Amino acid sequence: MTTETNIILAFDLYGTLLSTESIAHKLGSHFPAKAQSISSLWRRYQLEYTWRLNSMGIYEPFSTVTRNSLLHALAEHDESLDDDAITALMNAYDNLSIFPDVKLTLTKLEEIPTVAPVIFSNGTQSMVSNSVHRSPDLSPHASLFSDIVTVDDVKQFKPAPKVYLHLAERLGKSSSQIKDIWLVSGNPFDIVGARSVGLNAIWVDRNGRGWVDGARPDIQPTAVVNNLEQILRVIRK
Ligand code: 2OP
Repeated sequence: MTTETNIILAFDLYGTLLSTESIAHKLGSHFPAKAQSISSLWRRYQLEYTWRLNSMGIYEPFSTVTRNSLLHALAEHDESLDDDAITALMNAYDNLSIFPDVKLTLTKLEEIPTVAPVIFSNGTQSMVSNSVHRSPDLSPHASLFSDIVTVDDVKQFKPAPKVYLHLAERLGKSSSQIKDIWLVSGNPFDIVGARSVGLNAIWVDRNGRGWVDGARPDIQPTAVVNNLEQILRVIRK
């Protein structure tokens, strides 16, 4: 039986705790009118590249994927930047802002020692570690996370089953205990990936549009929340 005492909350990072859209203001110093559009396309290609690489059986570190997808998004906007500006934007990934509901949720979790939060991300170990420890918003909560699990060791990206099984192995959870892991993610493809190998998964639906992902219509999130804080209620049920 899952009790609060053995629940592990595996937080997705980019798009769940940290807003990848928050980099738009940095892009705005180069392209005021196009920053939002470039930022959205950058994220879209970043994810698309991970899925394409998975399909081809090829692995490139997420930092490379992130850089290459930025170049693609810029080119599609008929724009480019010199190497220094690209490097500065990549460094800005270490300073992403948290979503507004993150601070209170993490503060409350700090008061519940029986729930173990970890970070679980596509990023490389150094990229994720920088994002967690250098983000002015997230770094004050860094000690809450008992581990940072990335896909580095597996060399595949979410939603490949292997990455979720790697998370379970790293957390010492056998297949019969895999339900003790609750993925918390704002990314529907991540939710479907986790659920398809037996993890519980809470989808953070900040736009309140409801679950419309049809990649596997038979697979649904364990729970849907509109605000991250509501995960506390879900895991207490
Ligand atoms: C992450 O793994 C999917 O970008 C998301 O952090």
